[in-house]
Amino acid sequence: MGEVKAIKGADWKLEIGGLTELMGEKEGPALLFDRIQDYPPGFRILTNVFRTQKRAALSLRLDPNLSGIDLLNGWRMKLRTFKPVPVSVVEGGPLFENSMSDGEIDLERFPAPIWHEMDGGRYLGTGCCVITRDPESGRVNVGTYRCMIQGKNKVSVKVNKGKGGRIAMEKYHQAGQPCPVAISLGQEPSLFLASMSPLSPEINEYEYAGWLQGAPFPVVPGPLTGLPLPATAEIVLEGEIPPLESKDLPKEGPFGEWYGYFADTTVGEVPLMVVKKVYYRNDPIILGVPPLKPPNHYVSVPLGAAALWDQLEQAGIPDVKGVWGFVYSAQTGPFTVIAIRQRYAGHSKQALLVASGARAGAYGGKFMVVVDDDVDITNPYDVIWAMSTRCNVREGVDLVKGVWTSPAEPAIPPASRSPRGYTMDRVLIDACRPYQWLDEFPQVNVFPKEYKRDLEKKWKL
Ligand SMILES: Cc1cc2nc3c(=O)[nH]c(=O)nc-3n(C[C@H](O)[C@H](O)[C@H](O)COP(=O)(O)O)c2cc1C
Repeated sequence: MGEVKAIKGADWKLEIGGLTELMGEKEGPALLFDRIQDYPPGFRILTNVFRTQKRAALSLRLDPNLSGIDLLNGWRMKLRTFKPVPVSVVEGGPLFENSMSDGEIDLERFPAPIWHEMDGGRYLGTGCCVITRDPESGRVNVGTYRCMIQGKNKVSVKVNKGKGGRIAMEKYHQAGQPCPVAISLGQEPSLFLASMSPLSPEINEYEYAGWLQGAPFPVVPGPLTGLPLPATAEIVLEGEIPPLESKDLPKEGPFGEWYGYFADTTVGEVPLMVVKKVYYRNDPIILGVPPLKPPNHYVSVPLGAAALWDQLEQAGIPDVKGVWGFVYSAQTGPFTVIAIRQRYAGHSKQALLVASGARAGAYGGKFMVVVDDDVDITNPYDVIWAMSTRCNVREGVDLVKGVWTSPAEPAIPPASRSPRGYTMDRVLIDACRPYQWLDEFPQVNVFPKEYKRDLEKKWKL
């Protein structure tokens, strides 16, 4: 299918990251790196898997011909069919073809790249799945949190406050106990997509991955922790996160983040995992998903917009025709656009207010824009045109202060950075034609599509 290109002999120091960025910009094939400098053949890294809408659609088990808002809506409709598929517990598996224990462990035996020029270290975990279990409910959580090598047998796990893995870890630590943890560094796309999605806590990511791939997800109990490990994983680290004091926690970052900046460097804040066991298949493949400067997104459709679209509907906002983000991660991010068919005065403002506080729209937000549904919200030019021409600034722009945000937000002033939490203000922009005089608003200066199609035919253009 020409969707994967093999690259032999690249340097882990910068070339793997540079080539990933370059081919991401071109929306080219996925890259499979082998014979990486300083490493034996077979220790491979796969990047840009979800970079095109076609490959994203294939991974979501949707029609690969879908694109833009149709792809997003296809995903939204598919989500409505979600039914958890129980895991199948298996014994052993290819994951255990090789292993290392305690003193033998050297994480640099795996080709962890320096993904971006100013990264503070080697990030082994980018497209990874961090597995924990809540000590009270017994519920298993799988989440994607970046992991930087911090020593032969140590990685920092940057699980931010409020995330599923963090809540489980804090419960162990409050009881003075280490938190058992396992990290898969390469696995089925279905599990990665589950792991990076903001699922509600009662949904088990393995059962979600089973639904997505149409078959029970095979798991094997971790020999050390008993945590369910993906039996088909390429590499798994097993160990614990001890309850350390801040002075014993390492420097983490900087790291090239999804906002497009080196941000979020901390000392003494990011939990540290002690790796006690490593299992890996012969010729393992690490899934590399480094964040890149937008629009070079690691998944080429803002999946979080499907959740926000649903949340707007659940809040009773009628006639939402689409939701999109231009600078996004798992959520729609700091530039979110909503399209509505206006039904009453105040409809557009209501959509803005709900979206900027809804779970899927709040985190990491900044500019929230609402437009009429004749605007193509996947096209930044069309959105800017609507904002420039339809927004009546004094009526249409509002400021909301102090909403939940990500520590990776670059515009938080240094003096306001604190492990106590992060907020950012919101600008709500109503770029809909004013409902009260909709009929009098100037008509758009463009021929109908059908007429232009006829012209093309007639004049053989
Ligand atoms: C490539 C990638 C890297 C991510 N890195 C982090 C990270 O370092 N820390 C974090 O808290 N969330 C990170 N996220 C977002 C989480 O994976 C996402 O919020 C997920 O829903 C967390 O799951 P949880 O709610 O079960 O904790 C990342 C997502 C992706 C796709």
